[in-house]
Amino acid sequence: MRTNDAQMLTLFVLADGPLHGYGINTAIEKLTGARLGRGSLSGALARLEAKGLIERMELQGRQLPFRLTLLGQETLELELASTARVAEQLFETAVPDRVGYQDRLAATEFVQSYKQLAVEALAVRPGQAVLDLGCGPGTDLAALAEAVTPSGAVFGIDSGAEMLDRARARTTGLPQVSLQRGDIHALPYAEGSFDRAHTDRVLQHVADPAGVLAEVRRVLRPGGRLVMAEPDWETLAVDHPELQLSRAYTRHIAERIVRNGALGRQSARLAVDAGFTVSAVLPVVSVFRDVREADQVLGLRRNTERAVAAGYFRPDEAERWLAHLTEGPFLASATLYLTVVDVPAEAGPYNG
Ligand SMILES: C[S@@+](CC[C@H](N)C(=O)[O-])C[C@H]1O[C@@H](n2cnc3c(N)ncnc32)[C@H](O)[C@@H]1O
Repeated sequence: MRTNDAQMLTLFVLADGPLHGYGINTAIEKLTGARLGRGSLSGALARLEAKGLIERMELQGRQLPFRLTLLGQETLELELASTARVAEQLFETAVPDRVGYQDRLAATEFVQSYKQLAVEALAVRPGQAVLDLGCGPGTDLAALAEAVTPSGAVFGIDSGAEMLDRARARTTGLPQVSLQRGDIHALPYAEGSFDRAHTDRVLQHVADPAGVLAEVRRVLRPGGRLVMAEPDWETLAVDHPELQLSRAYTRHIAERIVRNGALGRQSARLAVDAGFTVSAVLPVVSVFRDVREADQVLGLRRNTERAVAAGYFRPDEAERWLAHLTEGPFLASATLYLTVVDVPAEAGPYNG
């Protein structure tokens, strides 16, 4: 038997013992931060009574509080168990390995389409030298290698050894690709070495995005171009009837999970500060209507557990948050910005 939210909340608070209508609403307010409307509470009570899930205690004609019937207790237990079971099946419990996670993302239609846009925005010509900063498992190296043709050169740099192993395996047949392990805050390349540079979800993680941009500016030639594909996690909007839970979830991701959570909107300004001119800022909005698909990208359950540990959700809030995401309908969206910036063609030698 399914119960709606008001009925479920009523059953839930009555599990702790009998309560009058007013007490039920106070307990619900404690749990959710909001009272049920009068009509909503009396409707829920009437329907639960009609289904035989709650009853009024009566003693010598005096009306006493509501309590759960045996059927009510069983129904509540079944509901909670089924929510937990569905959540278990729906959400990932393990943290995916870093390389596998990037590969899985790269296979999604959304990532493929904005990556294609980013390569187009780079406007690479045959024979050019391109730098892929934070190349990860080499997701973009083949497309860049194709654009420069064998007469050009693609350099991938990343700090992760296992990422580079995967990138190496992927690019064995592409002699124009070179890989380097290093920290992009201190690029191991001479001034003016590259025609093009690219980041994809990298600046959002680094300790000093402005410092990295100064380095990219140094290694690009006059007329060179940088394309940054960086999300803005403060635009993450997950639909939930309790809006404050959506806000808490987004705040937790933007403040605690991603080092530079608002980098998407900041990229253009930081690039100007580093001496670039901005050619275009293209917002790419992803919309998820399938909770499983969203979970693959957003790690909904994992990050909800972290949000509890970090104090952004109380445990009961986390339970209601996941329960609603599980039952749907689900909708979430987030914006990634493709920021296209150029080194002025007339720029003299880099003088940092
Ligand atoms: C989200 S992954 C993106 C990988 C790749 N650009 C892609 O689109 O699949 C971010 C990558 O940036 C790398 N990274 C983060 N900080 C770095 C740093 N300071 N220097 C070099 N690489 C870094 C990580 O090792 C990781 O591979």
